[in-house]
Amino acid sequence: MSDTLANLLSETRQFPPPAELAAAANVTDAAFEEAKADRLEFWAAQARRLHWHRPFAEILDWSNPPFAKWFADGQLNVAYNCLDRHIEAGRGSKVAIHWEGEPGDTRTITYADLHRTVSQAANALTDLGVTAGDRVAIYMPMIPEAAVAMLACARIGATHSVVFGGFSADALSGRIQDADAKVVITADGGYRRGKPSALKPTVDEAVSRCPSIEKVLVVRRTEQEVDWTDGRDVWWHDVVDSASPEHEAQPFDAEHPLFILYTSGTTAKPKGILHTTGGYLTQASWTTHAVFDLKPDTDVYWCTADIGWVTGHSYIVYGPLSNGATQVMYEGTPDTPHRGRFWEIIEKYKVSILYTAPTAIRTFMKWGDDIPAKFDLSSLRIIGSVGEPINPEAWMWYREHIGHNNAPVVDTWWQTETGAQMISPLPGVTAAKPGSAMGPLPGIAADVIDDGGNSVPPGGGGFLVLREPWPSMLRTIWGDDKRFIETYWSRFGAGAEAGDEWIYFAGDGAKRDDDGHLWLLGRVDDVMLVSGHNISTTEVESALVSHPKVAEAAVVGATDPTTGQAIVAFTILRGDVPEDEAQGDALAQELRNHVAKTLGPIAKPRQIMVVPELPKTRSGKIMRRLLKDVAENRSLGDVTTLQDSSVMDLISSGLKTGK
Ligand code: WT7
Repeated sequence: MSDTLANLLSETRQFPPPAELAAAANVTDAAFEEAKADRLEFWAAQARRLHWHRPFAEILDWSNPPFAKWFADGQLNVAYNCLDRHIEAGRGSKVAIHWEGEPGDTRTITYADLHRTVSQAANALTDLGVTAGDRVAIYMPMIPEAAVAMLACARIGATHSVVFGGFSADALSGRIQDADAKVVITADGGYRRGKPSALKPTVDEAVSRCPSIEKVLVVRRTEQEVDWTDGRDVWWHDVVDSASPEHEAQPFDAEHPLFILYTSGTTAKPKGILHTTGGYLTQASWTTHAVFDLKPDTDVYWCTADIGWVTGHSYIVYGPLSNGATQVMYEGTPDTPHRGRFWEIIEKYKVSILYTAPTAIRTFMKWGDDIPAKFDLSSLRIIGSVGEPINPEAWMWYREHIGHNNAPVVDTWWQTETGAQMISPLPGVTAAKPGSAMGPLPGIAADVIDDGGNSVPPGGGGFLVLREPWPSMLRTIWGDDKRFIETYWSRFGAGAEAGDEWIYFAGDGAKRDDDGHLWLLGRVDDVMLVSGHNISTTEVESALVSHPKVAEAAVVGATDPTTGQAIVAFTILRGDVPEDEAQGDALAQELRNHVAKTLGPIAKPRQIMVVPELPKTRSGKIMRRLLKDVAENRSLGDVTTLQDSSVMDLISSGLKTGK
């Protein structure tokens, strides 16, 4: 990848933090100095931001790599850190969650309320036979009880496995079986796109294949009819509401398993990523404090992710609550009942920190600037992005139309496996460049290396790796240490029998620009080889999105008899492009030329297709594999993880090929 095109490196726009924000920032440049002086002591100091029932003496045990132990002789309780200690500090009446249901119903939940409900749920789970170390599956809509369920598990030392509420019965049963879960916590349903969407029937089907499940605990949300299995099914309002609100949080070892979260491999069996207690909470909590500059007394924070993804775990539940934040939680979709719903929520609650994904930002661009312009977004002071590389123009749009040209954009790179943010600007420190995640956070040893394992110089590209263990790192793949080593540690370093150093390879490609800043290029599997040149799909997509008529683009390399691979682009146009122009050859030609001008003739797409939608996974990532099938005129591969399976029909039927 070292000979990738140099376009991204030519980004010259740079936005320093607003002076007042920098002056009052939670974290300054000093953090980098401290981490450089003593990396482990830096993390120990962040761990001490938490309450330890038994303080740790040892920081890191790396004697059996790649199996790390952080703060191993310390003991703590995650729920105590998220709830009790705020109450003990006299902040029980502070709002923890402003919850907004999709139909417009709302709930205001203080820390005292949350503490009471979590204590009751902890007692109820105990009564249902759940003890420390047991696994509990959580399959819920975005209602406060989802967070309550997670915290109640954490409180009693049960390991939760949250499964995204949009997954099928097959996916749910596979995950329950792999973790050998004892209880499922679910709801009758949740609201999505203006109507109730059932969950309980999926659980019933899944559990019929899961002999390990003893109880199904059901929250009533939509009041849909549900089938009921006596002796197994239990209503939440029957057992939680009547349970004692007294519950003393017991301390657990820092390495006690906190949760398993399955990453959906596109083909292979999902991997149960295991996170433990002390190190995970340390990094989730500190990054929330540092990257969002979260001030619990004045900020209103909103992360739009679903609790079923790691972003929901670290940046809805554990990060914000351990910091005593006030946050918004929203049940539904951004276009229900209208396309301004997010902005309406921000105006209503005066949200000051927003955390969302590039896929959402590009959708908002497509819907048009006039929609956010109708709302007062002046409360926003920091806006974050996560999940995919954010194209420079999407970054600029986000800053201009949502961040009123002065809220710092924090583009945060991390993974389910890393547990918490790893590479990101710091909003009070970094002069950010549109499209760059900038650099590793203090205490994180990220590097870009070539095939031979050498760090690439400024201007070079290669594989993004992590050279030192970090507190919130995955500890293993549940039940499969061998796969853990093979998947993450065997490409470079000691795991590949190349030296003594253990090097974690994240699967992503990256570039280091002339100033040393990092540009994420997506999965290395997505790099195209065109006439002997490595070109990343991200670069061509960003070039397309920089054209004023394009809202979103997905690029694949299709087999080509002359060039090896040829670039085929699928584009979604902005809302204001007229239909006849969208369908004309002239526009496709204009876009091809635009890419050639931006990146060089080698990157000129062979074909541009204007499409109404792009195939995405449920977590919003573009499924390039399916587009490649289209580009190479093949029948489609597995479409079961698609968010909306009708999208591929739309694409195939409406194809406009501008050759
Ligand atoms: C993969 C991890 C991290 C929580 C949500 C996704 C991509 C994530 C960025 C970013 C470029 C990004 C990477 C990574 N990714 N954030 N800011 N810039 N790429 O978690 O489902 O485990 O996916 O998402 O490819 O490896 P995940």
